[in-house]
Amino acid sequence: MEDLDFLAGGGHAGEVLRSTDWSASPLGPPADWPQPLKTLIALILAAKQPMFIGWGQDHILLYNDGYGEMLADRHPAAIGRPFFDVWPEVLVDVKPLFDRVSSGIPVHMRDIKLTLHRPGRPDESHFAFSYTPVRDEAGAVAGLFCACIETSDHYLAERARREAEASERNRLWVLSEDMLARANFEGMMSAVSPAWTTVLGWSEGHLLATPYSELMHPEDAAVTLAAIADMAQSGLPTRFENRIATASGGWKPIGWTVSPEPDDGNFIAIGRDLSTEKARDAELLRTQEALRQSQKLESMGQLTGGVAHDFNNLLTPIIGSLDMLMRRGVGNERERRLIDGALQSAERAKVLVQRLLAFARRQPLQPAAVDIWELVDGMAGLIGSTLGPAIDVRVAIASDMPPARADANQLEMAILNLSVNARDAMPNGGKLTISASRESIDMTQSAGLPVGHYIRLAIRDTGIGMDEETRERAIEPFFSTKGIGKGTGLGLSMAHGLAAQLGGGLVIHSAPGQGTTVEFWLPISGEAMAGAVARPAEAPKAAARGTAMLVDDEPLIRMSTADMLMDLGYEVLEAGSAEEALKQMDAGAVPDILVTDHLMPGMTGDELARNVRSRWPGIPVLIVSGYAEATGIAADLPRLTKPFRNAELAERIAGLHPPGGN
Ligand SMILES: Nc1ncnc2c1ncn2[C@@H]1O[C@H](COP(=O)(O)OP(=O)(O)OP(=O)(O)O)[C@@H](O)[C@H]1O
Ligand SMILES: [Mg+2]
Repeated sequence: MEDLDFLAGGGHAGEVLRSTDWSASPLGPPADWPQPLKTLIALILAAKQPMFIGWGQDHILLYNDGYGEMLADRHPAAIGRPFFDVWPEVLVDVKPLFDRVSSGIPVHMRDIKLTLHRPGRPDESHFAFSYTPVRDEAGAVAGLFCACIETSDHYLAERARREAEASERNRLWVLSEDMLARANFEGMMSAVSPAWTTVLGWSEGHLLATPYSELMHPEDAAVTLAAIADMAQSGLPTRFENRIATASGGWKPIGWTVSPEPDDGNFIAIGRDLSTEKARDAELLRTQEALRQSQKLESMGQLTGGVAHDFNNLLTPIIGSLDMLMRRGVGNERERRLIDGALQSAERAKVLVQRLLAFARRQPLQPAAVDIWELVDGMAGLIGSTLGPAIDVRVAIASDMPPARADANQLEMAILNLSVNARDAMPNGGKLTISASRESIDMTQSAGLPVGHYIRLAIRDTGIGMDEETRERAIEPFFSTKGIGKGTGLGLSMAHGLAAQLGGGLVIHSAPGQGTTVEFWLPISGEAMAGAVARPAEAPKAAARGTAMLVDDEPLIRMSTADMLMDLGYEVLEAGSAEEALKQMDAGAVPDILVTDHLMPGMTGDELARNVRSRWPGIPVLIVSGYAEATGIAADLPRLTKPFRNAELAERIAGLHPPGGN
């Protein structure tokens, strides 16, 4: 029995080995087995790791408990049986390996997949096998020894990792907003991600069948292909931008990152749609440009406004005095003609100054709710006759448009000015269309207008149009292309100033040969419509009589105004300041009317008026102001704008009545 020690232990497999009747087996009784086999059997029975021995020509199987598990229900019948009787299904694959081992060469198999039914384990199992030749005492290969290492856990984990990676790649490919492609250096793409279709509209089939150079904008193709060729040469990733055709016939700016795949003549391209980004950049540029333009106009406005205001004040006594000399018939006929000429020049200067004030947004305005349809309709005849028969005038305004906040008289002037511009731009005739629509500016728009509701009054001509430079400068005061003596360059300036002063804006669309559209954006009025445009009253009534208190800090202006008042039949009390006027009145010199300048050092005309109204409620007050002082003068105070002529003063005084009526 000593000889059978090698069969000791070994758990179940050991028991089976010991209890098997070996006399019928080619191996014969265990006691006679060759020593190397005995040694090996002792070794495998002691080992936990699955091991077997295939002995003799038929590879008679001898194994331990570890391997018994792999045999599952083939165990224990497999013990002592030829290997390929037990494993007929692996004969084709494994027989050649066994033959190599028989010739003395060890074989190692990294991965063998087996389906094993073991409780608590997945059916699919993986093993690494090493088949080692075993020699008998004579040195010939008599069998093989196999140790198995189970790699299932490692293998399955690795496979799960690869699958996760692949599905992540796939997810990226499918879900990425970027266009992903695989392409070759011969000019074709072999795979495109769904984003291509989303961004460009082309089908996958079209993209794979079209050389990529044909998708590029003709101006960008050469540069792009050169960049791709450079990448092929350097083997380094690179970036570029180009325009790619869309299925709808447009172009989209795309930013590309391309990177060569190692050694296989392909490259990967990642393209990002830059449309939104570009649009935002362009919008930013436009906004900056608009801001620069408006700052330029703003400073011009301040300069012009200041000068115009001073001129206005200077013109007041000039016109007043000349007007008086005229009316008194001073001098001989030749002198009277000179005076008349001087007055006419002064009147023209006054118009000019008023246009400048309009541009500077300082003209006195009387904003009210204006029905644009009614206003334009009322002017159609005038416009038609101004423009002549060669120009077809159309008005397209819905009559139920809400009222705009505007000064009707000034708006009429501006529309007339724009119509004249249109006529000048259509020397061979054409069409002038005046239309209006409701528009809203919300947070997302940045047209330079405050958020709100507007009426857009558009005046469109089919004339020569403007080039970019002219369009940009058209609003500037004194900018004119019409030649010396033909245009003052103030028409658009004034229209722009008017729109801005009313809380709106002026927008010009024009291109050479494309005609011009000038848009007035006017805020929609909250007030009810003020009925028809107020027209100047008829000639002044009979001269009023009594005392007039005249307050002005400018002696020259005061003098000429005093003259006018005297002409109207008043006895005039003069004061150089509001304070002085109050002093005189306190001293008992209470007048029948008060005529006062507004902007004076110390107390303003408005303050004086309120003071006088509260203390002497029966005295009518007229404010004479140089320019619009929207915040300074109470809205209910009668006003007269400098410079003015006698008739205008008379008319305004005739319309005066004390507060509360009389
Ligand atoms: N409808 C238009 N079509 C083409 N160009 C125009 C049009 N309106 C204005 N312009 C261009 O803008 C310039 C400025 O116009 P603006 O009305 O301010 O001045 P003007 O017409 O030249 O002179 P003014 O109106 O003071 O007599 C014009 O000289 C002309 O070049
Ligand atoms: Mg003009």
